[in-house]
Amino acid sequence: MSFKIQIQGSDEAFDCASAENLLDAAMRQGIEMPYSCRKGVCGNCKGRVVHGDLVLGTQGGSHETGINQPDEHLFCRAQPASDLSIAPTSWHRVDPKARKIVLAKVFKKIQLASDVTQLQLRFPAGVRVKFKAGQYLQLLLPDGQRRSYSMANAPHESDSVQLHIRNLPQGYFSDTMLKNIQIGDLLKVELPHGDFWLREDSERPLLMVAGGTGFAPIKSILDHIIRQKLQRKVHLYWGARELEGIYANDLLARWMQQFPAWVIHPVLSNVADGSIWTGRLGFVHEAVQADFENLNDWDVYACGGMPMVTALRDVCKRLGLPDSNFYSDVFVN
Ligand code: FES
Repeated sequence: MSFKIQIQGSDEAFDCASAENLLDAAMRQGIEMPYSCRKGVCGNCKGRVVHGDLVLGTQGGSHETGINQPDEHLFCRAQPASDLSIAPTSWHRVDPKARKIVLAKVFKKIQLASDVTQLQLRFPAGVRVKFKAGQYLQLLLPDGQRRSYSMANAPHESDSVQLHIRNLPQGYFSDTMLKNIQIGDLLKVELPHGDFWLREDSERPLLMVAGGTGFAPIKSILDHIIRQKLQRKVHLYWGARELEGIYANDLLARWMQQFPAWVIHPVLSNVADGSIWTGRLGFVHEAVQADFENLNDWDVYACGGMPMVTALRDVCKRLGLPDSNFYSDVFVN
């Protein structure tokens, strides 16, 4: 059975089967709403159901996902039991055909740290894929599983992509298949995905916060800002447990030299006794809390694990950042 889902305050509507969730149905029909994990964890897809009913058990969410009101729901979970009127936090039309499946060739494989591998994939001759700075792709594995990785390069390099892959112990792809990937191998990828991309209609200063390989989409955005010569104030915080987790030190040093107005803070949370590290210690959200009195006129872009993004969101809220100025991409294993 299929229902009509009306977006409140607009003429836009889409169909959604009772077994489908609102987010998937909207995206299938070219309507993009905020999302990240698509697993009911990050809270990015939160929106209001103004009229109508949802299938029991698919409503709501938790305090951790930012659900506080009875009419708020996670659209990646919510399935309709009637026609609905909904109010997503934002939405826009996209061309569903802009997403492509491409066979890309591995042309570089570099170990950035003991647990981080960089893969560079080149698209076939003549194939270019448009994406926005900060978005991700999905690797389509031979058994039908998918893995998501953010592009670390800027969109003007549209003939290839750079990925930073954290080698998770027992990770189905990162701990087994990745080890055997050779230069010249072909990987099937689908892109672009994701709502984490630079809003260029804003001129507000940017607070960019990365945890671990969450640096990849942040790097894509910053490379894009450089390419486009955007004049926005930038504060970058990159958190890792140990020094080798800040795996692009040369790049940070280059940015510091080229853009002296940028403020760049690597932050380590687990420094061994006797370490040579003299930089920031602790967690990135604590560093942000210590450095800012007010964030009410900033845009914040954060990518990393759920605990980091949740803690940072709370700090930003306390510092006056409007919810609508917080953009995040969350790793969910
Ligand atoms: S909770 Fe729905 S996209 Fe993350």
